[in-house]
Amino acid sequence: MDKQLFAEHLATLRERYDDILEQTGFDTLNVFSGRPKVQFLDDNYYPFRCNPQFKALVPVTDNPHSWIIYRRGQKPRLLFYRPVDFWHYVPPAPRTFWSDQYDIDLLNSPADAKAFLQSENAAFLGETDGLEGWPIGIPNPEELLARLHWSRAYKTPYEMACLREANRIAVRAHRAAEAAFRDGASEFEINLSYLRAAGQGENQMPYGNIVGLNEHAAILHYTHLSGQRIPESELKSFLIDAGADCNGYCADITRSHAFRDGEYAELVAAMDAKEQELVAGLRPGVAYGELHRQCHLKIGQLLQQFGIIRTSAEGAVESNLTGTFMPHGLGHFLGLQVHDVGGHQTAATGGITPPPAEYPFLRTTRTVEANQVFTIEPGLYFIDPLLAALRETDLAAEVYWDKVDALRPFGGVRIEDNVIVHGDRTENITRDCYAE
Ligand code: GLY
Ligand code: MN
Ligand code: MN
Repeated sequence: MDKQLFAEHLATLRERYDDILEQTGFDTLNVFSGRPKVQFLDDNYYPFRCNPQFKALVPVTDNPHSWIIYRRGQKPRLLFYRPVDFWHYVPPAPRTFWSDQYDIDLLNSPADAKAFLQSENAAFLGETDGLEGWPIGIPNPEELLARLHWSRAYKTPYEMACLREANRIAVRAHRAAEAAFRDGASEFEINLSYLRAAGQGENQMPYGNIVGLNEHAAILHYTHLSGQRIPESELKSFLIDAGADCNGYCADITRSHAFRDGEYAELVAAMDAKEQELVAGLRPGVAYGELHRQCHLKIGQLLQQFGIIRTSAEGAVESNLTGTFMPHGLGHFLGLQVHDVGGHQTAATGGITPPPAEYPFLRTTRTVEANQVFTIEPGLYFIDPLLAALRETDLAAEVYWDKVDALRPFGGVRIEDNVIVHGDRTENITRDCYAE
């Protein structure tokens, strides 16, 4: 990554952090990367996931027991954990595109950090377990966190470059996964193809890869990865929702594939077109919740067009019949976290705007602004428990159940792209990578 781009990024962050510290009455932030968590009654550790507030300041995602000490108006200090340890990998002292931007001290043991910390006018960001009695300052003050979360929605050019690169890696891997599907691989084998092409292990993935064949495509967060190969004659559909990481920034991409021509293939193509219409609607000034309603209208149109419901698209939205077929939200902020923070936030100082009662899983209730990054991920599924519940209601009469039963073995379809909103255009970074 470009050194100058990072220098400019950190200059922007420092302006933001200095303002936020001033507004909240702190002089110092002590930000802890985290500590490995040991499994219950065991001496093995869960995969390490670093504190997002730490990787927001420095692109180090895999080094526990490290700290950023951020003092208003000063160059940030990185305490980089580098023990003498013959059991574990010890990363080299950082000398890379970002390292000039920090005063770096190496820590031999976790407790060496204490000598650098001071609690006067200080806030602490992170998990406090194991730090009892340390001079860390006030842990996770609410307004400070709210202001940081709010500012995270506005991505810098460096962050956009990381998100584009994460998409490039993920698209390469999605292509390998589709090829494995067409070769008759099991879900487990498809996932291996994905990881190999990404060059990233499963613990580096931003979330557990969703790799579903046939009816498994109806399970929204299906991460089971069956090892069973399905005979070619029975292969119908493939839904893969998988991302990649670049310097701590996430890709979050979904594609649905039909094994052969037919109605499901047509549904995938029709959804693909609707998804691109929704991406085109993602513009500054649009309420994301309004775009979600437009998405439901489009799902209603697909249900009509494919002979799944009797009702008009408008009627299906009105009665929330569409909710049975698309129970999740249109998408979310994307960044350092796959469901990036602040989607329901009302103002920089805090407050929550909850999703509307009929769409409880909508993760974004904010008005779209320039430099924000979102996913757009409409879906249409045949989900057994939701269909069973629908059958018990008056709306059951609006459904052509024979058609539902014919499509049920295909599971469902979801198309998900990652999109940067600029002042004058939207940039679909996922499609751009497919076009490369
Ligand atoms: N992969 C999780 C999501 O799409 O939100
Ligand atoms: Mn996804
Ligand atoms: Mn998503």
